[in-house]
Amino acid sequence: MFTAQEFIKRRRSIVKQMPDNSAIILEANEPTFKNSDTEHIFRQDSNFYYLTGIEESDITLILTKVDKTVHEFLFTEKNNEHNVVWIGSRLEIDELKDRTGVERVLYNDQLSMYEKSILSSIENLYYDYESFAEPQYNRKLIKLNEIKAHYPNIRSVKNAQQLLFKSRIIKSSSEVKALQKAIDITAEAVLRAYKFTKPGMFEYEVRAEIEYAYLKNGSRMPGFPSIVAAGENATVLHYVTMDTLIKKNDLVLIDIGADYMNYSADISRTYPASGTFKGKQKDLYAALLDVQKKIIHYAKPGRSMKDVNKKTTVLIGKMLKSFKYIKDESQFFKYYPHSVGHMLGLDTHDVQGKKRQQPILKKGMIITIEPGVYIKEDNIGIRIEDDILINDKGNVNLSAGIPKEIKEIEKIMGA
Ligand code: GLY
Ligand code: MN
Ligand code: MN
Repeated sequence: MFTAQEFIKRRRSIVKQMPDNSAIILEANEPTFKNSDTEHIFRQDSNFYYLTGIEESDITLILTKVDKTVHEFLFTEKNNEHNVVWIGSRLEIDELKDRTGVERVLYNDQLSMYEKSILSSIENLYYDYESFAEPQYNRKLIKLNEIKAHYPNIRSVKNAQQLLFKSRIIKSSSEVKALQKAIDITAEAVLRAYKFTKPGMFEYEVRAEIEYAYLKNGSRMPGFPSIVAAGENATVLHYVTMDTLIKKNDLVLIDIGADYMNYSADISRTYPASGTFKGKQKDLYAALLDVQKKIIHYAKPGRSMKDVNKKTTVLIGKMLKSFKYIKDESQFFKYYPHSVGHMLGLDTHDVQGKKRQQPILKKGMIITIEPGVYIKEDNIGIRIEDDILINDKGNVNLSAGIPKEIKEIEKIMGA
């Protein structure tokens, strides 16, 4: 799906943003251990994957711009008997060149020599330190502090994320294709959930149906932990326990997304365990669906995520007031305590600039629109989430094919 040409183009756009006498260093993720010598399933660092497409650990990408000349280096580990026997062969140098388009691919035993020489000849360094990890556990921050101490010629050190987000926030057509595939697999999972859910099942049984659809269709794993929440559990935003029996009067909220080629779908649907929407649940669902459709219509180029969030709070405030849950529309936060969406891509909560920035929407961005209401006193949690590609004039709902109309859901559930 992704050609070497595309990776070359992406790296060029990164280097173009760098001033002269700069380097960017990006390291692949390391394996993480579950316990003893058993590893978690490997997931590549998103920035490293974005610029190389390589899914191995122990590889470093260095791009330099010195005296206006650009060089690209990739350093990898040699195959050895142990890794060939236990986990299979790593990509050889020629394969790495073919897949990434990087010309100079060398072995890791030369990395520190090259790194020293590069670091002593630059003034600006872009380094990808992970901002979510605690500093004392972050090997990248430790390395960064060593670099700062040893190379006084480096006058500025910046987070590489600053360069990457500008490219990553706008999706290419092949990225849209990968994400569309992740969404299509998730669509099948939602249909299985609608068809299989019955009162008396455990929430984890519904999860099993959902994740079966992923594995069966070539998604290696969920993009984030699946959420299947029945009744009051649906009022917990990121509920992942999933060990409760589903009762006949429960609404079931699923918030799920398959990962395909490291791109993550993110879809929420809410439906009645019995197969039929009734009473207040039905009225609330219909009202929230109406709000969600209005917000999707509102999201277009030129409007910012801040505008979209504001619009949502106004609409949900009105809705909650009309149901007499709140006296004043400004009290929406009691039942709607999150924002309406986020960028979507390699990360479920994808890059969107500086922390908490609410970017202006542009063609090629993919966002989620996911209003919700969470009413503990009535054991009701409803969230409806779609994945939206911003285009020239408005947007395309990439998950439009996943049923969310009351009648459609009831029909599929066979009520
Ligand atoms: N699934 C996480 C979210 O909707 O943001
Ligand atoms: Mn979600
Ligand atoms: Mn989301």
